Amino acid sequence: MKGAFITFEGGEGAGKSTQAKRLTQRLRARGCDVVLTREPGGSAWAERLRTALLTEAGRALDPTEQAMLFAAARADHVDTLIAPALKAGQTVICDRFADSTEAYQGSAGVPTQMLSLLRLVAVGPVMPTLTLILDIAPEDGIARARGREALDPFEKDDLETQAARRAVFLDIAAREPDRCVVFDASLPADRLAEAIWPVVEARLGLAKEG
Ligand code: TMP
Repeated sequence: MKGAFITFEGGEGAGKSTQAKRLTQRLRARGCDVVLTREPGGSAWAERLRTALLTEAGRALDPTEQAMLFAAARADHVDTLIAPALKAGQTVICDRFADSTEAYQGSAGVPTQMLSLLRLVAVGPVMPTLTLILDIAPEDGIARARGREALDPFEKDDLETQAARRAVFLDIAAREPDRCVVFDASLPADRLAEAIWPVVEARLGLAKEG
């Protein structure tokens, strides 16, 4: 694995997609060769699974079955897009990755050991170099997501469920401080982008701008 692998994680309405796009643009402007992708999705098969998963029927599946399908989508995404790009020295930015399965399906009751096994099978040694966790209170995140577009079935879950997912993301950050950095996602998008940039700049070893 030669290129850097950066993932964005967090609850609904935290602004991951916006920040992932902004970071991609800024890195490209600095001459970095960046691939921007997302989960579930990012490859032909994974996008098919996304379509199936982000429906009421997908949401109604048992959480273990969901975890297996998200992992299957991830395995294809890693095999066909992420691993080859990293091998070619590109920087990969992914909007959600395996931590989302731990937060969403783990907080719904799938045992940690099973999730670790699925992660191993799906991604092998492909671990993010840096994970940016955008943290927001569920009520604020949902209010934002509502103003944006139609909610997917996972976004419609109650605040208690969303709070449990938030707690898992914060646990992951506490457990893996070298990989994860937590940001206050209630900040306006410009200020959040300004907070994220120096962390990425330092982690990628880019010379400071200006
Ligand atoms: P998005 O809204 O960030 O595009 O993500 C799609 C939804 O899928 C979001 O509600 C979180 C959910 N999800 C999981 O439940 N498990 C996973 O492993 C991933 C990647 C996403």
